Amino acid sequence: MRADYRPIRIGLLGAGSVGSQVFKLIQEDADELANRIGAQLQISGVLVRSLDASRDYSIPKEFLTTDAESVILGSDIVVELIGGIQPALDYVRMALESGSDVVTANKALLANHGPEIFELAERVGAQVYYEASVAGAIPIIRPLRESLAGDTVTRIMGIVNGTTNFILDQMESTGASFDAALEQAQQLGYAEADPTADVGGFDAAAKAAILSSLAFHTEVHIDDVYTEGIEKITQLDIESAKDAGYTVKLLAVCERVDDDSIAARVHPTLIPQTHPLASVRGAFNAVFVESEASGELMFYGAGAGGIETASAVLGDVVMAAKRHLGGGSTLNESTHAKLSILPIEDIVTRYQVSLEVKDEPGVLAVIASMFAELEISVETLEQSTIDSESETVLLTVITHETSERSLQKLIEKLNQSEVVAEFKGQVRVEGV
Ligand SMILES: NC(=O)c1ccc[n+]([C@@H]2O[C@H](COP(=O)([O-])OP(=O)(O)OC[C@H]3O[C@@H](n4cnc5c(N)ncnc54)[C@H](OP(=O)(O)O)[C@@H]3O)[C@@H](O)[C@H]2O)c1
Repeated sequence: MRADYRPIRIGLLGAGSVGSQVFKLIQEDADELANRIGAQLQISGVLVRSLDASRDYSIPKEFLTTDAESVILGSDIVVELIGGIQPALDYVRMALESGSDVVTANKALLANHGPEIFELAERVGAQVYYEASVAGAIPIIRPLRESLAGDTVTRIMGIVNGTTNFILDQMESTGASFDAALEQAQQLGYAEADPTADVGGFDAAAKAAILSSLAFHTEVHIDDVYTEGIEKITQLDIESAKDAGYTVKLLAVCERVDDDSIAARVHPTLIPQTHPLASVRGAFNAVFVESEASGELMFYGAGAGGIETASAVLGDVVMAAKRHLGGGSTLNESTHAKLSILPIEDIVTRYQVSLEVKDEPGVLAVIASMFAELEISVETLEQSTIDSESETVLLTVITHETSERSLQKLIEKLNQSEVVAEFKGQVRVEGV
């Protein structure tokens, strides 16, 4: 370590689950970090909402403040771990405008305001680091941004929300209902009291926007991501998927559709039990990347947790500190491709369709003709008995590739048909 370097001042915004662990790591590993960087890291202040809140790691009172400006303007690198849009956006702007590099774990902020933040950073010659914003501890931003910078990413499928993966895994492994699995996730601290952001797919959609922007060199906003949650997934969906050799996951799918267009979507998805993503159990995350030259890559690990996420934040802090010392150009976001983002109606994929139909001769032929009229070809059709008394049976159909538009027309027809007692639902199928 060069003795003539002054310490690098780190301003920490937020000292919650992640922020308090970042503080801990910087304090406890100070000497080792200094050796790696070439200068000491010095925490210049820690912004909180309440000076008296209890914290996962106790932070000496002299570091804590409610004065954002003093922390931001008194730092060389600002680490934003407040979460949400405001005041995080104003603080990030203030930090960049004052010449600091910024490290953030805030997916909501980037998925909503990424372009303006990156544009500002470019204008002032600063760098924004955001490894922890997608899939917690898993290194995925840097691989996409740097390691795969010479390749062409064609598709990313990610399990990027641990809460929903836990719930679906519980439903599959224990036979629990959605409500019971959600309650268990809340008891174990995997789900918030208000679980909407997770179970509604919105958290995963923010991550899909970030991943798509990076992978396809195109600005993708969270509103561009088609989003469906897992609230409607039933034991019937899980069981029929299992019987057909699939497992149900909430996937973020980011794909290059053709030379000019991409799509980004989040929804419950059937994947073959043999697919690498099917082995991702509990609250773990994984991101499966397909690229033209490198082929298939999978990144797996803890997608959340204070200390785990702090690891990714610290990696960014070390990079920012090295840049602070050594200078060097910024690695700006490339959005030159400007590919168009297709609406869900234009997406082509496979589906599992479940319906309850009258148990009468000729019914299967009627159903098959409805699929045929819309040119939706059937890969498998399973019939199962509901119970011996029932006058209806359950049909589970897995289709070949078809467009969402055709599928919606099929659902309309099925709902109007006299032979269909109840249309039970559809789940997209990927990874075949
Ligand atoms: N937790 C995870 O596992 C995880 C994983 C990946 C990414 N992230 C991301 O990391 C970020 C931080 O998450 P977290 O779980 O650490 O959040 P958290 O536990 O809720 O902590 C938020 C911190 O920010 C402070 N804060 C909130 N609003 C503030 C305001 N208006 N002014 C000043 N301080 C304010 C809070 O102060 P008080 O302590 O005084 O309330 C608290 O210290 C979020 O963007 C989140 O999405 C988290």
